[in-house]
Amino acid sequence: MKQQNIRERWSSRTGFILVAAGAAAGLGNIWKFPYIVGENGGGAFVLVYLACILVVGLPIFMAELALGRLGARNVVDSFASIAAESGHSSRWTMIGWIGLLAVLIILSFYGVVGGWAFAYLATALQSLGSISEETTAPVEFAKAFNELAGDPVRSVVWQTAFMALTAAIVGSGVRAGIERLSRFLVPALFLLLGVMVICAAVTTGKFEAGFDFLFAPDFAQLDAEALLVALGHAFFTLGVGVGAMLTFGSYLPNGIGLVRASIFVVGLDTAMALLAGMAIFPIVFASGLEADAGPGLVFITMPIAFSGLPGGDILAVVFFAVLSFAALTSSPSLLEPIVAFVREKARVNRRSAAILAAALVWGLGLVQALSFSIWSDVAVFGKNLFELSTFTAISLLLPTGGILVALFAGWLVPARRMKDASGTQNLRLYWLWRICLRYVAPAGVAIVMLGGLFV
Ligand code: PFF
Repeated sequence: MKQQNIRERWSSRTGFILVAAGAAAGLGNIWKFPYIVGENGGGAFVLVYLACILVVGLPIFMAELALGRLGARNVVDSFASIAAESGHSSRWTMIGWIGLLAVLIILSFYGVVGGWAFAYLATALQSLGSISEETTAPVEFAKAFNELAGDPVRSVVWQTAFMALTAAIVGSGVRAGIERLSRFLVPALFLLLGVMVICAAVTTGKFEAGFDFLFAPDFAQLDAEALLVALGHAFFTLGVGVGAMLTFGSYLPNGIGLVRASIFVVGLDTAMALLAGMAIFPIVFASGLEADAGPGLVFITMPIAFSGLPGGDILAVVFFAVLSFAALTSSPSLLEPIVAFVREKARVNRRSAAILAAALVWGLGLVQALSFSIWSDVAVFGKNLFELSTFTAISLLLPTGGILVALFAGWLVPARRMKDASGTQNLRLYWLWRICLRYVAPAGVAIVMLGGLFV
């Protein structure tokens, strides 16, 4: 009980929405969403993704927040206490451990990609007004990316800078660190992305082509693997299935209803992904480039595209600022579950816990960073170490954590407690939520996972 009283809280509903939207809208929206849409054929994939968000992502997102409110502790102890109170086995604590493992792995590669974003922002700032013919040749940009990722020292230096900043934000506190940053950066992110969409619409002449690619469905391109990618990404972008939202839910002040706040956050996140697509595809198509360039899309294709556009040097700064801000509002949500755990278990102060947790993640991140240089030859199941980590976390741990959260919240926690925690009075909505948690989400995730892994 005492622990609950001293628990930090978000300052208000708006504060919470900005923090959660900041956590959700990240590299996943700007870096990953466009390239997986590109690789999986466009509109049909987007439709499946939106369905996953609505019937699986949103219900689990709300469930995690409600569980966080009920548990009011770190992710492991929250599951332990809710399971005990509802008369169930302490084995359910396992969901908390899966979550901690997942955030550890995700942040380890997130730090590397965030570091690349910082490096590109620095380069874009230096190149303002000086994009020359020579440096705009496509091979130069591809080389620039390979030189950065393939240089062990440079990539580790940028990864270290990114992780140090993340630790500093989280170490400053829930309200003074994470919330303060999100209040400023999330609106900035939307504004800058809006500017990019307008520039893409005005300067490229390819807005319609980009729009069509994003929204015109071609179901021929969809296969079982694409469904798994869409589902995994729905979890990744909302930050569910790993205990991040549960931890954020534990800092919710009383009296904030979860239904509307969740719909708001999920809506903002989806808007951000679609806006990123609307900014990126017209720019890519205008330069005669392809949308299926994979993870290199924003680091290789986009710089090439910028070089061919009027005002491309300024657009490049805006774009890499967007990418860096997006990464920086999400990484705290990945570190916080570990920090809350370390703090509450080891009884150390927040600052020390943040340093300890960040150091651990940074260490694992070295493996990811070096998988493009020193360890580029190491392959497990045909994947390099970076790919292996993203696959393990996003395609395996996230959906598994998601299913377990849905089952736990839908079947084990008494209905009345979930309803009270959600703060909703609307019975119809409540039952819809419950049906999604009990049946739709677990069945959907199980089918898609089995299909994607074995078909
Ligand atoms: N949602 C973030 C993104 O789209 O980049 C990544 C993320 C944040 C994943 C928090 C998981 C998480 F717990």
